[in-house]
Amino acid sequence: MNWPWSAKNDNPRTPGDPAPIIRMQGICKVYDKGTVKVEALRGIDFEVARGEFVAVVGPSGSGKSSLLNLIGCLDTPTDGLYELSGEAVADLDRDGLAEIRNRRIGFVFQNFNLLPQLSALENVEMPLLFGGVPARRRRKRAQELLEQVGLGDRLTHRPTELSGGQMQRVAVARALAMDPDVILADEPTGNLDTSSGSDVLSLLTQLWKQGSTLVVVTHDISMAERAPRIVEIRDGVIVNDTGGLQ
Ligand SMILES: Nc1ncnc2c1ncn2[C@@H]1O[C@H](COP(=O)(O)OP(=O)(O)OP(=O)(O)O)[C@@H](O)[C@H]1O
Ligand SMILES: [Mg+2]
Repeated sequence: MNWPWSAKNDNPRTPGDPAPIIRMQGICKVYDKGTVKVEALRGIDFEVARGEFVAVVGPSGSGKSSLLNLIGCLDTPTDGLYELSGEAVADLDRDGLAEIRNRRIGFVFQNFNLLPQLSALENVEMPLLFGGVPARRRRKRAQELLEQVGLGDRLTHRPTELSGGQMQRVAVARALAMDPDVILADEPTGNLDTSSGSDVLSLLTQLWKQGSTLVVVTHDISMAERAPRIVEIRDGVIVNDTGGLQ
């Protein structure tokens, strides 16, 4: 695959900017399946400052999801340093990690990962429930978020009663519920047709313009082109970063 995007840098940063939200140094991830060891990430140095919109691109199997799962504390690195909002993630116990996932990270998955038996409103309420937000505030916040993503008239619909694009907008609302430090999305338009993919893309871009920090793994060129910074991964290493810090 050739590098299809022109290198541009609308959001220049200088090394040593105070307190990046994400700071990784020498991150390695080896999946050890007994006889087979896969070195999915081989020494990743990566920083993301507050308010950035970073697209992560690269061929299938290059390590993009592995990287995002580490950033999202869904998995732990084999080696290297990872600080999220200045806190070393390796020092946290299980409860600490669960807390970080709930409060600091909003995750949007390719297959939406909504709970099928719950309504849109209840799905968005889940992180607020885990976060100990009282019932009335929870409901109000979830309703406001669904209105914000254009689903104010679908509050009681279950996932099977929504279109793919609508399901992904519920997932985005859920990701926003706890007002996270960073929104991570792994191929958020991968299961959507062009039109609903473009709606989700506009929604994410709008959130970024309102101040959210986004890291989005994508094969979608129109998505990558919206991001001021594009990071390309091949064989578990960053080979290109238009942010200019590599
Ligand atoms: N849980 C796992 N156990 C073992 N190997 C894994 C696991 N997850 C990923 N891998 C391997 O790690 C490598 C990187 O996988 P990863 O899912 O990060 O790639 P990707 O860039 O997200 O690919 P795609 O674009 O197809 O989603 C692949 O060789 C994959 O087979
Ligand atoms: Mg992947």
